[in-house]
Amino acid sequence: MNAAGWCKDIETVRELAKTPVSEITVGSITLEPRPVNEGNVFWQSPDGTYALNSLGLPNPGIATYRKRLPEMQKIAHAANKKLRVSIAGFSPSEYFKLAVGIARNVDVIEVNLGCPNVWGAEGQKPIPSFNPALTTSIINSVAEALQDMGNDLPRIAIKLSPYSDPLQMDTIISVIQSERLFVDEVVTCNTFPNAFAWQDGARAITPGDGFAGMSGSAMKAIALGQTKRLHGALHCHGIEIVGVGGIATGQDVVDFAQLGVKKVQIGTHYFVHGEKVFSELLQEVADLV
Ligand SMILES: Cc1cc2nc3c(=O)[nH]c(=O)nc-3n(C[C@H](O)[C@H](O)[C@H](O)COP(=O)(O)O)c2cc1C
Repeated sequence: MNAAGWCKDIETVRELAKTPVSEITVGSITLEPRPVNEGNVFWQSPDGTYALNSLGLPNPGIATYRKRLPEMQKIAHAANKKLRVSIAGFSPSEYFKLAVGIARNVDVIEVNLGCPNVWGAEGQKPIPSFNPALTTSIINSVAEALQDMGNDLPRIAIKLSPYSDPLQMDTIISVIQSERLFVDEVVTCNTFPNAFAWQDGARAITPGDGFAGMSGSAMKAIALGQTKRLHGALHCHGIEIVGVGGIATGQDVVDFAQLGVKKVQIGTHYFVHGEKVFSELLQEVADLV
């Protein structure tokens, strides 16, 4: 499927419906409308091995999506695909409101716990993935928001940042395993936060003093490692892992599949080359297996 980041309007859902993706990911969406950050917000290294971005979660806000989602879901279902919507709040209560606002018109809610590119007057906003108490509180808020949905409950995915500290990863794994929670899928991983690059002597990315989320091929080994650890710990609890990070070839897809995961997402490669990448990747995988 496409990774969260740039399918935000009905036209893009229509384009994705023509591709072989199994799910169409919309968002991330926020409670209030957000403009794109100013200046250069996406940059790819000259050799194409990695990219930096700091879009800042641009989207028209939940009120617009309450109107758009029924049609988006209709388009997805007509093409035999699920509609997956990524939500990003700035507090547990915002996640609660977002979950309530979209739940009736989505098949999967992807709870984004890892956007590194949001800056306020007080500096960079905290990234929930690195705060187990906040992660717990957000997941419980989403669970509370959906508690009366019975059989109509959408699948719940949470999307994490990449972890380098094994203890921190173990703590998050315990949070996810905790029986009060109801996570169906874990998506790993979001961009590596606070990366930086120069372009012709100036910072490559304008907002946030040039700090940005890193993605692209160079993320593959990191995303494979996260996927392997999380799949090993959570598969036996019935939690499915979705691999994302650095996928640009059929061999990359096979490398994730070899870890046991059944779903992958494509971010930067799709962002740079458009919808055609999904049929290309599928063909490359078919040629390999
Ligand atoms: C331009 C851009 C915007 C992104 N926006 C979002 C977003 O809104 N929500 C989210 O969960 N991840 C977002 N991401 C992260 C991607 O979904 C993906 O997790 C990450 O880029 C790693 O995958 P990749 O190497 O295939 O790009 C964004 C990535 C890029 C490059």
